[in-house]
Amino acid sequence: MADIIDGKAVSAAVKEQIKEEIAREGLDIGLAVVIVGDDPASRVYVNNKKKACEFCGIKSYEYALPEDATEEELLELIDTLNGDGKVNGILVQLPLPKQLDEKKIIERISPMKDVDAFHESNVGRIMIGNYAFLPCTPAGCMELIRSTGVEVSGKECVVIGRSNIVGKPMAMLLLHENGTVTVCHSRTKDLAEVCRRADILIAAVGRANFVTADMVKEGAVVIDVGINRLENGKLCGDVKFDEVSEKAGYITPVPGGVGPMTIAMLMKNTVMAKRIQTK
Ligand code: GUN
Repeated sequence: MADIIDGKAVSAAVKEQIKEEIAREGLDIGLAVVIVGDDPASRVYVNNKKKACEFCGIKSYEYALPEDATEEELLELIDTLNGDGKVNGILVQLPLPKQLDEKKIIERISPMKDVDAFHESNVGRIMIGNYAFLPCTPAGCMELIRSTGVEVSGKECVVIGRSNIVGKPMAMLLLHENGTVTVCHSRTKDLAEVCRRADILIAAVGRANFVTADMVKEGAVVIDVGINRLENGKLCGDVKFDEVSEKAGYITPVPGGVGPMTIAMLMKNTVMAKRIQTK
């Protein structure tokens, strides 16, 4: 039976450190959280981000736009926030309604306030390994791997999924720590065989119960980034937890694994935003 990696506990420890750091230095930090429309999952994520801000001692400013908001309205809001001295970080919750061009919106955020690290210039810096802002979800996964005591260096690491938000930056962070990294996707031949090589397996597919025990090496570290809602309303990951946990060495649960870590990394980035803006 695998050790369950407690994302809530690791996240709480990180947030506690951030809270102390902010209090010790008397930092006055603000995060603008922009939500467009009324997607229930986005609402939950935004509320959790605001709660984390409150815990850490970061001021959060919510901007809620209606589902039918125009691109001009949103771009205008971002311009205002870019110029607002009390706002150190800007986060636009994704996905956006379909009339809004996500790429255009993200590129409008000042790279110095882009606490999600989604702007092209911040993504480029991650690629090179010279970055101020962490890619939140991948950096959260790295913290969870670190918490197991398993070294990444020299290990076979397999990432399933190649999104700009998770798969690609995840591969970069593992590479920076000297992992041997393979990125799999929907066109990968014999996916199960590739996954079975992994000492560290990251599932970021977005399909419930996609990773089964036959795809996992005995004793592997399995990190489940998926958050899928089943028809019965229950949340589940990309990994078939019951059977994979019998075979893996370490595994993250859903919920309570990667999710809380993403938010803790966002808090870190918001402190970093304040620092680079006051240098
Ligand atoms: N939607 C899903 N994950 C994220 C995230 O990390 N940041 C933002 N802004 N939107 C998301």
